[in-house]
Amino acid sequence: MKELELAKQAAFAGGEVVAKYFHSSVQMREKSVGNLVSDADIESEQVIAAAIRAAYPDHEILGEETNKGNPDAEHLWIVDPLDGTHNFAHKIPHFAVSIGYYREGQAVCGVIHNPIVDSWYEVVRGRGAWHEGRQVKVADDRRLSEAMIGVGFYYDRGKLMQATLGVIDRLMHKQIHGVRRMGTASLDFTMVGTGSFGAFFEYCLAPWDFAAGRLFVEEAGGRVTTFHDDSLPMVPSSILATNGYLHDQMLELIQTQFE
Ligand code: IPD
Ligand code: CA
Ligand code: CA
Repeated sequence: MKELELAKQAAFAGGEVVAKYFHSSVQMREKSVGNLVSDADIESEQVIAAAIRAAYPDHEILGEETNKGNPDAEHLWIVDPLDGTHNFAHKIPHFAVSIGYYREGQAVCGVIHNPIVDSWYEVVRGRGAWHEGRQVKVADDRRLSEAMIGVGFYYDRGKLMQATLGVIDRLMHKQIHGVRRMGTASLDFTMVGTGSFGAFFEYCLAPWDFAAGRLFVEEAGGRVTTFHDDSLPMVPSSILATNGYLHDQMLELIQTQFE
């Protein structure tokens, strides 16, 4: 599929930029309190946007940093040029470039690429979720006590953070195998899709964080909704991604904390 090949080529080009800065040094700046950005984020988005524009000059691009295309466009590319900026800043080699292609508001395909460990995940609607040529599936966990759970924290340090900690507390009392805060939402989705996590949740993610990852989980057999069990809108939203079996149990736990 042409769009998938382009997404891959663009994600690898962005990844090269990010890796170059990771292996040298780069000045981090604060976009807002606790929200970092660097030349790596900006330059990665530039090379990704250039690759997409060269192939499809009339498609819109919605990127985290500089490309603010119309989210309602018929052909939309949603780009996180460096997901996991805090890991990047602290020399933790767990971050990614994430690109999703949407047609008429529907996710068509996506690629998530970690340039440091040189791994990539790809997905096409109706054709499954793949990790480096191997088709993947969500975990078979039916009970929370069998599951590893991923969690993310947005930049809020108030009520939303407290509610998340409340969910973790309740999960621990359900005897889950553990909770992990990996720090890169796009890769958290891949961990649900490949069966490492039974579920992943975060109280606020932007479209560039979930554009490719939500399709990856769905095509791997899982389910992705907001905390209110709605389908995801094209704006920042709460997210619950699970293997499907754990979805209602997770929703119930989350909803009692996020009222
Ligand atoms: C962040 C990461 C992180 C998540 C934050 C995101 P960024 O993206 O995905 O895991 O918890 O909510 O904003 O800022 O590193 O691209
Ligand atoms: Ca992100
Ligand atoms: Ca980012």
